[in-house]
Amino acid sequence: MMTQLASETPTARGARSGESLRIERVTKRFKQGDTWVEALREISLTIQQGEFLAVMGASGSGKSTLLHVLAGLTWPDEGHISIDGTDLSRLNDSQLTSFRRRRIGLVFQAFNLIPTLSAADNITLPLMVEGRRLPSAELENLARRLGIENRMHHRPDALSGGEQQRVAIARALVTDPALVLADEPTGSLDSVSGQNICRLLRELHEQEKRTIVVVTHEPTVAMWAERIVVLRDGRVLTEFATRDFSDAHSLAAHYQDIVQAQDDEVAR
Ligand SMILES: Nc1ncnc2c1ncn2[C@@H]1O[C@H](COP(=O)(O)OP(=O)(O)OP(=O)(O)O)[C@@H](O)[C@H]1O
Ligand SMILES: [Mg+2]
Repeated sequence: MMTQLASETPTARGARSGESLRIERVTKRFKQGDTWVEALREISLTIQQGEFLAVMGASGSGKSTLLHVLAGLTWPDEGHISIDGTDLSRLNDSQLTSFRRRRIGLVFQAFNLIPTLSAADNITLPLMVEGRRLPSAELENLARRLGIENRMHHRPDALSGGEQQRVAIARALVTDPALVLADEPTGSLDSVSGQNICRLLRELHEQEKRTIVVVTHEPTVAMWAERIVVLRDGRVLTEFATRDFSDAHSLAAHYQDIVQAQDDEVAR
């Protein structure tokens, strides 16, 4: 059972109006053997504060690389990224690490929980590494919002996939980030747990005004976002609003059409 998030919690401090994220002509290359692969090619994208964006695209199209660059986990070779007006390239390593820890929440497909720690300790880890503590009432509140209040003393291997992902989301939220980045957050979950995670992300966007960027292959996940950006070979192929589609089925059909049209063009 999902618990409702308290509406407009005082925790979404970072949420303000205006522009959240700007990616300007970002190129990222990786060396693969003797050759270089351009994972991102002069990509430009603006994400508004409080927006819920989904990034779709074929395997290898650059989705994870885009997320990593946005998170400051890897440097672009060219171009600029700014978050709330802060140009990430102007920060030194320790400033970037601190910025990332405080402003960005990351969620991954594989949960990335520490197996020897309880759910509670996994959640508070990002604060502990900074020598900060979370008052127990706040931890309880967070756990309750995510519907895992009865799982706090369990280790990850005693939790279902959906519960593990909710612990991972709680960990992402513990620093109260304005921006939550999720890479295939439902990729390891059954469809019911996956939809619950989507609903939760949607609530973080609607009720707490956080900016959410989700990478996904699945139209049933992308459907929860407001806007979908489709990547192809490291570039933005197209983008569209989800409100133009009545259900995930019609959205999936549209997405397939886009991909097919591009494949046909390449084949010609
Ligand atoms: N660390 C790396 N070293 C070398 N090449 C990389 C690295 N990371 C990504 N790439 C390459 O960059 C391109 C984009 O990769 P990326 O992981 O961003 O794709 P993706 O869209 O997330 O794919 P998937 O849907 O399979 O997760 C691919 O060609 C990939 O092989
Ligand atoms: Mg990926």
